[in-house]
Amino acid sequence: MSNEANKKLFIQTLGCQMNDTDSQHIIAELNKHKGYTQTQNMEDADLIVINTCSVREKPVQKLFSEIGQFNVKKKEGAKIGVCGCTASHLGNDIMKRAPYVDFVLGARNISKIKDVVDKKGAIEIDIDNDDSTYEFARAETSIYKTNVNISIGCDKECTYCIVPATRGDEISIPPEMIIEQIQKDVKTGAVEVMLLGQNVNSYGRRFSDGRAKYSFTQLLKDVSKIEGLERIRFTSPHPLHMDDEFIEEFASNDKISKCIHMPLQSGSTKILKAMKRGYSKEWFLNRTKKIRDLVPDVRITTDIIVAFPGETREDFLDTIDVINQVKFDQIFNFKYSPRPNTQALELKDDEIADDIGSARLTQVIDLHKEHQSELMNANIGKTFTVLFESLKPNGEVAGLTDNFMQVFVKGSDELLGRFVEVKITAASRTSLKGEVVE
Ligand code: 5AD
Ligand code: SF4
Repeated sequence: MSNEANKKLFIQTLGCQMNDTDSQHIIAELNKHKGYTQTQNMEDADLIVINTCSVREKPVQKLFSEIGQFNVKKKEGAKIGVCGCTASHLGNDIMKRAPYVDFVLGARNISKIKDVVDKKGAIEIDIDNDDSTYEFARAETSIYKTNVNISIGCDKECTYCIVPATRGDEISIPPEMIIEQIQKDVKTGAVEVMLLGQNVNSYGRRFSDGRAKYSFTQLLKDVSKIEGLERIRFTSPHPLHMDDEFIEEFASNDKISKCIHMPLQSGSTKILKAMKRGYSKEWFLNRTKKIRDLVPDVRITTDIIVAFPGETREDFLDTIDVINQVKFDQIFNFKYSPRPNTQALELKDDEIADDIGSARLTQVIDLHKEHQSELMNANIGKTFTVLFESLKPNGEVAGLTDNFMQVFVKGSDELLGRFVEVKITAASRTSLKGEVVE
């Protein structure tokens, strides 16, 4: 530790799980190289970091109101850093709009945190920066679970999406680094890994040392050989790359959690084309059917964007039709939000009126709630293996089933970190209650 020990870091994270992992890296790097420890109290902090998301307009607006507040309330002399995707795409404009910001660090530049933290006015936003082989310091979050990045950036060109412009081209992290990291985490108590990337199942097409290709399915096979690792999760996969080999591995590998994210975006083949998603409604339905046929208890989650430019009532009904056919276990729904540096901006003339967008969103939410109740109630009376992770103040212990449903039981800390059989006795739309089966 340096002589700057005892300095306090307050960090706020918006956005996706990649951002969560980036924040964990920031915390650990600043601890290792600069002696910062974390505080949950912003007014105590010597350094305030906000790790931003720019996927929709709202989080960007939130950023400026939030850093304004931080600037008013912060301890005298405390620094403010803006990191993440909005840092990448707004760069210098952040300093112009908020001159009190001390440094700006783009999403793909997190390995430089220890350098920029003491450089007033530093802006590092190179979207070609390659930290795919940088060995980040690790912060402990949950001892039972570990998050491991498997790639950086994204090679897709989804026309609504700002991410390729904020996180740059896709580069895979070498498999041996991934495996070594998981092995280390397993030694310190992890039993579950979450493999993370913008597009995990296109893994292995490009490495920074130019080595031969390697597939995501192969990575899953290799990771599952790690002794002591019990459960593997990953996000986000792309429906286009869900070939038979991948689905068969997903189905047959007992270590893989049977909950899969399949971001549909739209059920209309015409809109999917305009989004450049690369698949049709039929392909999506075919893939979900194959998964459900092979994995009876599988849970399928999705992302849906309503009111993409040009989305007619008929297109929207295609989305409703897919929702009715698949019955997703969870839907993350969004109203289309025009973003800078995206191709869909050219479709401005076809944008959908906001009230129509809102009505479509409500329709998706209501339908999904019905499905959720039906699906969750069907679990009553069944028995699941649950990994218990945390104690609740009301004396319950919380855990997750293999297909990623939250379960609460009465119990004590002796359940923590263990896989236990639980019989389900009650269900709400988002969680289950049960009893440990002796
Ligand atoms: N507008 C609305 N939703 C978007 N998403 C990405 N870009 C946009 C946008 N411009 C959603 C997609 C993606 C999720 C992370 O965010 O559904 O899968
Ligand atoms: Fe994550 Fe995308 Fe938001 Fe960046 S813009 S934080 S990649 S969701």
